[in-house]
Amino acid sequence: MRILILNGPNMNLLGLRQPEIYGRTSYDELLELIRLKAAELGAEVSFFQSNHEGALVDAIQQAYFDGVEGIILNPAAYTHTSVALLDALRAVNIPTVEVHLSDPDSREPFRQISYIRPACVATVKGKGPTGYLEALELLCRQAKG
Ligand code: DQA
Repeated sequence: MRILILNGPNMNLLGLRQPEIYGRTSYDELLELIRLKAAELGAEVSFFQSNHEGALVDAIQQAYFDGVEGIILNPAAYTHTSVALLDALRAVNIPTVEVHLSDPDSREPFRQISYIRPACVATVKGKGPTGYLEALELLCRQAKG
């Protein structure tokens, strides 16, 4: 199973940015944890991170043409603003799990809206890096039916 792990703005600064909220695991360490889990599950993972909304939209569109079968998406701040990401997910119709390291629903009111959630098969939040691994398991399990 081919899965794309897509991360939005400031996720490249993991470990450094507000560790009291997002933890001390760096972005590279997060990717390594996902790679290990993917190997265990027999999934093929690719990664993309961008601080730019349009680049994330392009990556979702490209996933369709590349035959990606599942997306794990942490749009970071764009979660709470981006109709463009919602529309892109709806356009490609690839099973997508929304992931957040923190639990945005228990933070500031502006984080309690997720524009992309209606286009996702599940949301995993507040579990730190483990959330990405759970999302991976979930997509692999769903694919096996
Ligand atoms: C986040 C939560 C968002 O509200 C925030 O803007 C982020 C990270 C998370 O993973 O907890 O950048 O998506």
